[in-house]
Amino acid sequence: MTSKVSVIGAGNVGAVCAQRILEKGYADIVLVDIIEGLPQGKALDMLESMPVFGCDRRIIGTNDYKDTANSDVVVITSGVPRKPGMTREELLQINMKIVTEVTQSVVKYSPNCIIIMVTNPLDAMTYLARRTSQFPKNRVVGMSGILDTARLRSFIAAELNVSVEDVFACILGQHGEAMVILPRLTTVCGMPITKLLPQETVDRLVERTKKAGAEIVGLLKTGSAFYAPSAGAAQMVGAILLDKKQILPCAAYLDGEYGIKDTVITVPVKLGKNGIEQIIELELTPDEKAALANSAKAVDELVTAMKLS
Ligand code: APR
Repeated sequence: MTSKVSVIGAGNVGAVCAQRILEKGYADIVLVDIIEGLPQGKALDMLESMPVFGCDRRIIGTNDYKDTANSDVVVITSGVPRKPGMTREELLQINMKIVTEVTQSVVKYSPNCIIIMVTNPLDAMTYLARRTSQFPKNRVVGMSGILDTARLRSFIAAELNVSVEDVFACILGQHGEAMVILPRLTTVCGMPITKLLPQETVDRLVERTKKAGAEIVGLLKTGSAFYAPSAGAAQMVGAILLDKKQILPCAAYLDGEYGIKDTVITVPVKLGKNGIEQIIELELTPDEKAALANSAKAVDELVTAMKLS
């Protein structure tokens, strides 16, 4: 049977995510937005491109959550992207309201779905969606580490003049500047980059990765990144629907793993038809463990600021 994916938010991230899922043939899609005509118009345009790809998947656009009923996976991208000068707190308050309403509507019509959160601030919004949905922790997962590691992988590949496919990157923690990048576990053909690149270069690439989101906001001026974020979300949809058991860095609710409890941060997880099927616990050095605990604290501060009852 054809799977069904709903993408909430027909803006930059949502529309390109829908396009990527559709072109991969993973599922039929329902694209939802509050703006009348926007999801309908974009969906129709994408549908009309399908004959060119020889792909028989369907997409509809709607403003009505009834159309999302019985989705297997729901990708939430609705919200406001960070604008230059906007604080994380301001973004938090605006997107918190949107994500709460959207999650309630999603759960009403698709009580068995898996939610993939994309809206920022990512870890806090993933926490909020889990709390609001009351879903078990395996069925709410955030798109974070695939984006951060893809950025670092692309920088390393360019630096070493190797294929991006040959680079594996390891990033844990908050999806933001408090992320924990582990160069000793970031490898090319099994060799850590600390052995392949001078320390100054490693430091420069690490810093660039931490600020990669802001770099794009600074260039675009009127929005934030969407090609790479949508690619990350589409990869997660594929891993779930194809039951790939793929290990990917994603934002997950931790309940004692890594010594961290009741918060959401990026860790390697096994993604399959049940969503998060396993959280992989890497062996960390005491310094790395401390950095991860600090990173989790940055998420906790946002969760506390949401004042959830
Ligand atoms: N229900 C449905 N859609 C909504 C709602 C809502 N309550 N509120 C806002 N939207 C829609 C907007 O109408 C808009 O079309 O969400 C869409 C967001 O699209 P963009 O403004 O283009 O933002 P985008 O770049 O897609 O980023 C969305 O993803 O990566 C994150 O930080 C980013 O939080 C941001 C989110």
